[in-house]
Formats: sequence, C-alpha cells, structure tokens
Amino acid sequence: MGESETEQLGDLSDLADGQMRAFEDVGEYGIVVCRVDGELYAIEDNCSHADTPLSEGRLRGAMVMCPLHGAGFDVRDGTHSGPPAYEGVACHRLHVAESGEVSVDIAPIADDEPGENSDVGGRFETR
Ligand code: FES
Repeated sequence: MGESETEQLGDLSDLADGQMRAFEDVGEYGIVVCRVDGELYAIEDNCSHADTPLSEGRLRGAMVMCPLHGAGFDVRDGTHSGPPAYEGVACHRLHVAESGEVSVDIAPIADDEPGENSDVGGRFETR
C-alpha cells in the first residue's frame, strides 16, 4: 500500500522553458524531463517506434520530436502525434518540493487512472 517509489532528480530550477534533460538511470529506459510553459513534465526517454532516446530530439512546444523519424510525443501525457509511431510513451508524475528538489514516480502514470483521489485512502470529501 502506498508504495509508489520515487527517485530524486535534484533541483531543476535551471532548466529553462523549452529545455529538456535526460536522466538515464530512472526506470527501464531512462526519462526525459521537459519544461513547458513553466511546468515540468517527464516521459520515458525511449521512442515507442524504434527505441531511440527522445532526449536527442527537439522540444517544440509540448511536443518532443524523435530525432530518428520525427514522431512527436506530448510530454504532458506521453501521447503520440501520429506515424511512424503507433503508440505513445510512458509518462511519469513529478513532485517539486518546497526546497526545489524534484522527484519522479518510477511507476508511470496509468492510462486508465480514474482521478486524482483514486488512491488516497480515507478521504471522502468531494467537491
Ligand atoms: S524511432 Fe522515433 S520515430 Fe522512429
């Protein structure tokens, strides 16, 4: 219960809008953290088409363009923009502490995650 493992990524306040940074040691394939409109997002650093590090591509708006064949992936949810990729990539939840330290959930955000209160036990307030 409540065993979502996290990994510390350090302080990413120097990561500017439109930049991305790879963390090779997180998860199976590594992740790439991107800043878009001031927000940080993380997706798996591995194109779903032919296993290429997306961090070697370019970030355009919220889309990371694969360096190999140009498929785009939305860093906000991992969805792909179209061929040649035929599926998205895993998306990971980030947490920013008051100290500025960023950590990432190793387990990807599930596609079918029903809502933000889904795994918060004992909380029944509704709004
Ligand atoms: S490897 Fe990424 S689009 Fe082909």
